[in-house]
Amino acid sequence: MKILVVGSGGREHALCWKLAQSPKISALYAAPGNPGIAQVATCLATTDYLAAAESMDADLTVVGPETPLAAGIVDQFRAKGRRIVGPTAAAARLESSKAFAKELMLRAGIPTARFAAVTSADEARDALLEFDLPVVIKADGLAAGKGVIIAHTHEEARRAIEHLGAASLVLEEFLVGEEVSFIVLSDGVNVLALEPAQDHKTVNDGDQGPNTGGMGAYCDGRILSEFRQALVMAQVIRPAIAQMRSEGMPFTGFLYAGLMMTAQGPKVVEFNARLGDPETQALMHRMASDFVEPLFAAAHGSLDETPLDWKTDPSVCVVLAGAGYPGSVRTGDRITGLDQVQEATVFHAGTKLDKNVLVTSGGRVLGVTASGATLELAMSNTYGEVRKIHFDGMHYRKDIGQKGLKRW
Ligand code: AMP
Ligand code: GLY
Repeated sequence: MKILVVGSGGREHALCWKLAQSPKISALYAAPGNPGIAQVATCLATTDYLAAAESMDADLTVVGPETPLAAGIVDQFRAKGRRIVGPTAAAARLESSKAFAKELMLRAGIPTARFAAVTSADEARDALLEFDLPVVIKADGLAAGKGVIIAHTHEEARRAIEHLGAASLVLEEFLVGEEVSFIVLSDGVNVLALEPAQDHKTVNDGDQGPNTGGMGAYCDGRILSEFRQALVMAQVIRPAIAQMRSEGMPFTGFLYAGLMMTAQGPKVVEFNARLGDPETQALMHRMASDFVEPLFAAAHGSLDETPLDWKTDPSVCVVLAGAGYPGSVRTGDRITGLDQVQEATVFHAGTKLDKNVLVTSGGRVLGVTASGATLELAMSNTYGEVRKIHFDGMHYRKDIGQKGLKRW
């Protein structure tokens, strides 16, 4: 089978790394890919994904990032009869419009933070009075995890409204609890859940500092009990899939529920219409089942709900970020030490080759991913390998997985 993966980040490298291990693959391509992906797939330097899929006659295309999904890549492929894993542009609004997602949750009875969707700064300032502090203020569109401000005073909230500058904003109640990334694959009807994973959104240890796209993730089979997973499926995932179908826009592809596990049960913080980054790096590292079969079935509307198999060893992914991230990022720093890494898989994100020298080219540069017999060992294995890698301005969180250690 010939597969094309769309994207160029750590998530896509992890996906390609996993797919390349499948005996069902005859050829694996990525567009546009990156130097890490080039080790396991043929990279095509194009963003004309349909032309790429047609020229290689791909049996299946899998989309990583949200931007092409929101722009209608799935609609475009299907109009040409090409199989693709991902939601249509209409269904991808679960991610591309926070107001759409909140209103859908309301119609489907899915637990989420109380909210107000507004379309002007004046309306936002009025709505502010309806919320206790801290209050959460979000830009409506795609913002790579950076369009969210948690305001602790009314003054801060007013400044956030000015700063976000978007006409459409969502204000919402602040939720207290632990965050969990719950990702499923769907064909619009059937649902196959991946293991729950945990991301680390802020740039500094101890969940301090500004939000990022994600600084590290782990997956150890203990993040949610079976009881809580069943609760999430019944209260969040199944109602979302059923509601989207009943409204004429079946959700196909990866549905990512960002959950807050509150004292009142799971509540949705956000939906994404794709796999998480860096959750995918930890997930692919730990998945034991072949992943080609479910992806193929999802694209054909015949997804089997038989649970996937996972290795017993927990996996940890630590993101190495470039100077300035998540603010304005410096690029072009030379990366060294990758040849010393032995026990980790290093997924590339913001890297490029400059005259055959590997340099940084984005905010999140590498995702160092390793396993161990326990979560603690997985963490020490990962951090042991992280210390072998260097580039100027490199920074990373030292506490990826810590929350999991407190769990038993
Ligand atoms: P979002 O882009 O909606 O996922 O928000 C980014 C991050 O902001 C989330 O991962 C949470 O850490 C935090 N956040 C967003 N909404 C809330 C909320 N209602 N209560 C508490 N934290 C939130
Ligand atoms: N890791 C968070 C996200 O992919 O949105």
